[in-house]
Amino acid sequence: MAMDTADSLPIVSILDDEDHFSKCFGVFRKRINERDMTNDDWLDVIFTDIGPKVCHSVGQSTKVTLKALGVGSGDGRTEDYFLSHFKDHFAQIHQCLIEPNKLLAEQHKKNIQQTNWKEVIYDWREQTLEEYMEGVKELEKGVKYHFISAIHSLYHMTNPEESLEFLYDQLEENGILLFALASEKSTSGRIGPGIPSQYSKQVINSSRFALDYFDTRGIPYALHIRDFTLDVSGCLDKDISEEASLLLDFLTHVKDFCKAPLPPGIKDTVFSTLREMLGNSQSQETIHPHHFIVVKRQHDQKLK
Ligand SMILES: C[S@@+](CC[C@H](N)C(=O)[O-])C[C@H]1O[C@@H](n2cnc3c(N)ncnc32)[C@H](O)[C@@H]1O
Repeated sequence: MAMDTADSLPIVSILDDEDHFSKCFGVFRKRINERDMTNDDWLDVIFTDIGPKVCHSVGQSTKVTLKALGVGSGDGRTEDYFLSHFKDHFAQIHQCLIEPNKLLAEQHKKNIQQTNWKEVIYDWREQTLEEYMEGVKELEKGVKYHFISAIHSLYHMTNPEESLEFLYDQLEENGILLFALASEKSTSGRIGPGIPSQYSKQVINSSRFALDYFDTRGIPYALHIRDFTLDVSGCLDKDISEEASLLLDFLTHVKDFCKAPLPPGIKDTVFSTLREMLGNSQSQETIHPHHFIVVKRQHDQKLK
C-alpha cells in the first residue's frame, strides 16, 4: 500500500483488494468486444494454431496424459475452453491452476462442477506464480508441462523476466507456451505506463516486454494479433458512474482512481490519453488490440 502524503488516504492497487479486482475485471470483460465478432472467436483462432502443436508435443498415442498449467487463470474461462477441446484427444488431463485471487478461483471451481469432465485431474494452487516458483525451487524439480497458458497475467509478475525463464523451463520438449497480452497500442497499453508501478503494482503494461524478450534471445514465436474495442463510455464524465469508475480502476490498476490522491498530472494524462484515443469519433470505443504469443520449447534449450 503506497501513501502519497502523510495526511492522505492510501493509494491502493486493485491487486490488493480481491473483491474490487473481481468487480473491475467483470466490467472490463463486459465492455470489451472483438471487432465484428463474438467474444469467443479469438479462442477458436488461437486453438486452430496451438491445438495440433500441443497434441504433437504429447506424442501420437491418444492413451497418454496431457499436462497443462494455467497461470493467473482467473475464473478459468480460457483454460476451460482449451480443455473442452483437448479432452477428446487424451485419456487423461492433468491441469495445474495458479490463481491467487480466491474469489476467482472459487468461481472457476463452481464452473467446472457443471462440466463434470471425468478425465481431468485438477491441481489447484491458490497462490502467486512467484510463490509457486519458490515451491518448485525447494523441490529442485517441477513437473514439466506440454502446455502452459498465461492469459493476461504476465503484467502482475514482480519479475517478468524471471517468470518467462521459469515458464519456458517448465515446458516439455516441443511443449507450447501461450501468452495473451494487450498490445502497446491498446487502451491499457497506453494508459498503464503513466501510472507509477508503486501504485498500480504492474511491472509491465503490454506485450512489448515479451516480444523484445524473445526477439533479443532469438527465440521464434508465432504472433496472432486480434483487434478488440473497449467501450469507455462514461469514463470522461464529471459525475462518473460506478461502472465507468470500475473500468478506470481496471485500466489504471488503482483502486478508486478518481478519488485517489495521486501525484499531480497523472489523472490529467490518463484522461487526455482517453480523449486522444476517442478522437472526433461519435462512438465511445477505443481500440484494444491483443497479442497472442505462441512459443515452442526447442530441444534442450534454456533461456538463462
Ligand atoms: C486480467 S486477469 C486475467 C484472468 C484470466 N486469465 C482471464 O483471461 O480471464 C489477471 C489474473 O492474474 C492473477 N494474478 C495476479 N497476480 C498474479 C501473480 N503474481 N501470479 C499469478 N497470477 C496472478 C489475477 O488474480 C487475475 O486472475
